[in-house]
Amino acid sequence: MITSSSCCYQTILAVHLWGLLLLLLLVGRASGARLPGGSGGAGIRAQQQPRGGASATAVFALGSFWRSEAAFGCLPGVIRTSVGYAGGSKARPEYRNLGDHAECVKVEYDPWLIQYNKLLDVFWANHDPREVFGQGPDVGNQYRSIIFTNGTMEARLAALSKEKEQAKDRRSVITTQIQPMGTFYQAEPEHQKFELKRKPFLLQLIGNLPEEELLSSTLAAKLNALAAELCSPNIQNRINSKIDEIAKKGWPILRDI
Ligand SMILES: *[C@@H]1O[C@H](CO)[C@@H](O)[C@H](O)[C@H]1NC(C)=O
Repeated sequence: MITSSSCCYQTILAVHLWGLLLLLLLVGRASGARLPGGSGGAGIRAQQQPRGGASATAVFALGSFWRSEAAFGCLPGVIRTSVGYAGGSKARPEYRNLGDHAECVKVEYDPWLIQYNKLLDVFWANHDPREVFGQGPDVGNQYRSIIFTNGTMEARLAALSKEKEQAKDRRSVITTQIQPMGTFYQAEPEHQKFELKRKPFLLQLIGNLPEEELLSSTLAAKLNALAAELCSPNIQNRINSKIDEIAKKGWPILRDI
């Protein structure tokens, strides 16, 4: 009697324990999947992790930050981008009242996949550093050209690249300043991924991510560049054909590119 009931009790207990374990596993997996991208499904794969473990951060000012963000967003190895204010002394700058700051882009990247020098090339290629007091129609001190550096190595690379740029033409002066990275004040949500937000179709395609996910998503950074036509031609073509394919299939969400 005693043995048989203890046998069954143990069996029932074992079944319950297994059930509990399975449940914990499922819950763990569900919440684990949500961690990197926030709450939405699209965030799961939309966010890349750096290969070597640690990512690196670079900050540049090169005119309007709407375009600056798009200039870096499509580069292989760039994990996420955001726009903000830096280079001045005013505390808590705002778009309509940014004081002595410059409009900047912050680029988080995987140094295993893209080197700082490559980012410098993209910086020089995406504005006219010889223009004084602005870029084209954007006139003002907030559009000045700055490379923010972190450490002596970056400062040296930045100075070298500036010399190279100056050597291309001696008749005008490169206005770009090189200064140590200070506080980066993140800009208001409406300025983040600005180019992407001008294309509601693209936004819808990635599931209308909430603002915080737009900020952290690698996919959103890429599509922001695509919207401004600032991806390299082969990446631009690859993404566009993927979008066409999705549109044809009627599958509504783009999760990865
Ligand atoms: C600056 O570089 C150091 C060492 O490489 C790193 O730990 C730190 O996070 C960097 N700071 C920024 C703002 O990228």
